[in-house]
Amino acid sequence: MDPSVTALFRAILLSGVLLATRTFAADAAANRLVIHTDQGRDKISRNIYGQFSEHLGHCIYGGVWVGEDSPIPNTRGIRNDVVAALRKIKVPVLRWPGGCFADEYHWRDGIGPRAQRPAMINTHWGGVVEDNHFGTHEFLDFCQQIGAAPYITGNLGSGTVQEMMEWVEYMTSDASSPMANLRRKNGQDQPWKVPFFGVGNESWGCGGSMTPEFYADNYRRYDTFIKNYPGNRIYRVACGANAADYRWTEVLMKNVGRRMNGLSLHYYTNPSGDWGRKGSATDFDEAQWFATLRGALRMEELVEKHAAIMDQYDRQKRIGLVVDEWGAWYDVEPGTNPGFLYQQNTLRDALVAGLTLNIFNRHCDRVKMANIAQLVNVLQSMILTDKEKMTVTPTYHVFEMYTVHQDATLLPSQLECADYEFDGKKIPGISASASQDAAGRIHVTLCNLNPNNPAELSCELQGAKASRLSGRVLAAATMQAHNTFDDPTAVKPEAFDAFKVTDNGFNASLPSKSVVVITVE
Ligand code: AHR
Repeated sequence: MDPSVTALFRAILLSGVLLATRTFAADAAANRLVIHTDQGRDKISRNIYGQFSEHLGHCIYGGVWVGEDSPIPNTRGIRNDVVAALRKIKVPVLRWPGGCFADEYHWRDGIGPRAQRPAMINTHWGGVVEDNHFGTHEFLDFCQQIGAAPYITGNLGSGTVQEMMEWVEYMTSDASSPMANLRRKNGQDQPWKVPFFGVGNESWGCGGSMTPEFYADNYRRYDTFIKNYPGNRIYRVACGANAADYRWTEVLMKNVGRRMNGLSLHYYTNPSGDWGRKGSATDFDEAQWFATLRGALRMEELVEKHAAIMDQYDRQKRIGLVVDEWGAWYDVEPGTNPGFLYQQNTLRDALVAGLTLNIFNRHCDRVKMANIAQLVNVLQSMILTDKEKMTVTPTYHVFEMYTVHQDATLLPSQLECADYEFDGKKIPGISASASQDAAGRIHVTLCNLNPNNPAELSCELQGAKASRLSGRVLAAATMQAHNTFDDPTAVKPEAFDAFKVTDNGFNASLPSKSVVVITVE
């Protein structure tokens, strides 16, 4: 169909969705949000909005790096279109080079003249040749181009203590030392700032199949040699648990304690719970919609239970929970390399992102960083590319809409809402979080998980009066709506005005299957 006809058709459908919301509103009393605007205390770290980029499929090669001689417009080999898109979502921090890849990565292979860099086989991801053309200098250049802080994961699984120690020296020392001089020889005079460093990845699995006790001992050893050179203080992240492995957290807190600044957590959701047959990213029914959102909501329980263990050893919450891999994981797109983890991204993924970020916001006293997997072309990505083509995903739009929460003060809130029921199972119909920014504006992000019915919400602002409201909504006519290279704006935010100021706050009509941000001034 002609894209302009498609766009018109879509606009009619979406306005129908919004109109239906206002005309056939359900009982507002069932959904009540109370926001304590006078009780803000904890800051929502902007790093909760972090990203993850691995040498996997076309995330780095093709998605970020095209090389200086590419016809695709680039700056020092890095795609200009991808950089421009990422700047808009204010990526605060970017994790690299893995993932499982990190524990096979030897950083010295990725420095110096590119033509002389040795190739390796990426054994985890498709068995393809990794030519090491994207290495330390290219990654740190990319971070500077998008304005993100680098978060580098060191190789504890198959690398030596000396290798990790020298990588940190290479990047961050300004002395006349062997590694700093090697960096200078390779064209970078000044040291970089590397504020975040991970000591291994998934050391319970692809990073070395270790027990928590063995990893804790190894962490202590490797960490000892990670130096804070003048002008660079490293926030050290220890490898944390796989989903509900609470024993891992217990042992790490007990045996490592304050030697780490952050402890990671990895959790992915998939519609079937079966990692062999996860389900399609685009071809799914309501049962899979429901199961995916239910799986994503499990993040709250995981965060709370890991945080409760951390509280026993660290009452002052000095150690951050760093959810440095999360997101939805489906079967790869038909016809693509199964090792490349390339999946489309629909409105369902926007809901996964919206409700998960609301969970992180509400637990920002302990969750200090999170990194969705992954940045481009892999798993629940922000961006999809195909050679010179690029489109942003519904998940990207959620990250853009939620930028208002970055470094804002969390406003405690209570939500009572009707359940969304499917096939005898129930989940809460709405997800919410609220914050106040430095200018005093209140931002409320809301997700209506129900794909069939709008939700009427009454919001009480305790300690503030709403005078002016504005809003944006991400919604579509179908659960499976997604952006393609031919139709890159099928799902995009629209202005939202289905709200009314009340004596003590506001009422809003949330369209079915939508993510909404409302700003109160
Ligand atoms: O994000 C894809 C992979 O998932 C990562 O490499 C690994 O850490 C995790 O198992």
